[in-house]
Amino acid sequence: MCGIVAYIGHKEAYPIIIKGLKRLEYRGYDSAGIALLNDGSLNVYKKQGKVANLEEYSSDKDRGGHSGIGHTRWATHGEPNDINAHPHLSEDEDLAIIHNGIIENYDSIKKELLSKGYTFKSDTDTEVLCYLINDIRKNTGTKLGEAVRLALQQVIGAYAIVVISKSEPDKIIAARKSSPLVVGIGHEGDFYLASDATPIVEYTKRVVYMNDEEIAVLRAGEEMKLYGIDDVEKTPYVQELELHLEALEKGGYDHFMLKEIHEQPRSIEDCFRGRMNAEKGWVSLGGIKEYEQKMVNANRIIMIACGTSWHACLVGEYLFEDLARINVEVEYASEFRYRNPIITENDVVIAVSQSGETADTLAALELAKSKGATILGICNVVGSSISRITDAGSYTHAGPEIGVASTKAFTAQVTVLTLMALSLAKRKGTISESEFRTKLSELEAIPQKVQQILEKNDKIKYIAAQYQNASNALYLGRGSSFPVALEGALKLKEISYIHAEGYPAAEMKHGPIALIDEEMPVFVIATKGTSYEKVVSNIQEVKARKGKIIAIVTEGDVQVTAIADHVIEIPEVDEHLVPLLATIPFQLLSYHIAVMRKCNVDQPRNLAKSVTVE
Ligand code: M6R
Repeated sequence: MCGIVAYIGHKEAYPIIIKGLKRLEYRGYDSAGIALLNDGSLNVYKKQGKVANLEEYSSDKDRGGHSGIGHTRWATHGEPNDINAHPHLSEDEDLAIIHNGIIENYDSIKKELLSKGYTFKSDTDTEVLCYLINDIRKNTGTKLGEAVRLALQQVIGAYAIVVISKSEPDKIIAARKSSPLVVGIGHEGDFYLASDATPIVEYTKRVVYMNDEEIAVLRAGEEMKLYGIDDVEKTPYVQELELHLEALEKGGYDHFMLKEIHEQPRSIEDCFRGRMNAEKGWVSLGGIKEYEQKMVNANRIIMIACGTSWHACLVGEYLFEDLARINVEVEYASEFRYRNPIITENDVVIAVSQSGETADTLAALELAKSKGATILGICNVVGSSISRITDAGSYTHAGPEIGVASTKAFTAQVTVLTLMALSLAKRKGTISESEFRTKLSELEAIPQKVQQILEKNDKIKYIAAQYQNASNALYLGRGSSFPVALEGALKLKEISYIHAEGYPAAEMKHGPIALIDEEMPVFVIATKGTSYEKVVSNIQEVKARKGKIIAIVTEGDVQVTAIADHVIEIPEVDEHLVPLLATIPFQLLSYHIAVMRKCNVDQPRNLAKSVTVE
């Protein structure tokens, strides 16, 4: 939540920071702001709303300078207005700070500062931290870096901060704890800082991912200095980025979400490429190989995640239990971390997260680690916090996902979980060799089948048009299609603001059936397989109450096609792989409905891509 960007070097800072903020806008878009050091002045511009508002507002102002910081906000403390926008200034207007995270004890620090006679302009925790740093600097006569260090020792909470000062204009001070921060090391002694590498990749591929409780001191033309909060100097670990600039552009699509939906044939293939061979009959997830026996022997596997990633875990639960006969529990990270769960050294905890930065998932993992469990990760963002704190893991290799609504990350997560389940099943001997090979070749064919579904876009758009004015929608599925129903409902509500709920199809008669009338669209996954006949009965129950049925069926289906209002056919596929296909029409339906309702598809209201606060 919140994106931060900073630059110090020989170039003009403003264009670099603004471009970076646009790349990070997916992290929050309640307000945007920038502070620039130019010839002894500290110029701060901030505006409610998107980065474009800030650009327009500052267009007639002094935007010069070779050092600056910028912020795009997802509001936590204080409403999203100009005053609460970052950067925040110290009371004497010498310091400017940007912050991503939450200072939990800000209230007690604020009271102490108020008792010293300070007055505050905003309602934010960030302004309090800025005042605290400056107060320490003045009282102890220390330089900025040391004042930041001393202030952070008093802070409880999460932060990625960058601070600049009018009286010490030659440097930028940055620090992090539980919120991400990457430093890009430029070719001419310049430095780029950002919440993720996307604003940096255009200028340099050499990056340092800062760790918790580290403070960086950056001066143009000099080496990066890195210290622990205990003041011990550290050697920065420089890594080479694998990110490509094209992956961050819309590439001719109207929205990132649409581009990402269409990327799925490739992203799914990228996810399994080199990790399996159907002909030779092997699966190998290098990252977790040495933990597989531990997973097989585990008491149970606990999968933790939030949102869409949690839905992927539910699919994973079906796959692990059915194929590998391993006991799996799926937990919302936010509940798990506060529930005093019983965790032992014989448990394996797998965190699933696109961003690898979700605060609740990180905290739940840390809890599990502290109790001695083995912790593994399935992440998309390389170098993210979750990928760094876990014992081992597998990347999903879906490429950057910019649309706030998760699409290709979900199918990539399900692909990795499928590979894991198959690998464990083989190791445990719960799958026959021929079944194993058949499933691998079915998986190999998935990208092409996804492509076939994408080619039905016009039909799906036509169906979307029929339901664009709905106020509510139900999504039903059974078995591993139940999480697909949940995910379909989440996609619709988050981008089109239509209230939608996902249910196991058989649960409908225990309550939700009361909602059904001729106005209610009911989206059902009714593909060939074990529960087909039962789902057909559920569809009949809806039809008897005049509900509208939009069914995802297997090609050639007759029974459901005869009674549904609309059907979308998907290619025939192994039952365990249905989620990878059935989710695609739901993504497209939600996308088209949201566009027809003139909603902001890539940046839905109130949301942010990376939820780094609890
Ligand atoms: O980055 P993560 O996968 O940990 O994010 C978890 C959720 O915030 C995320 O899946 C969210 O529900 C989706 N963006 C919604 O489409």
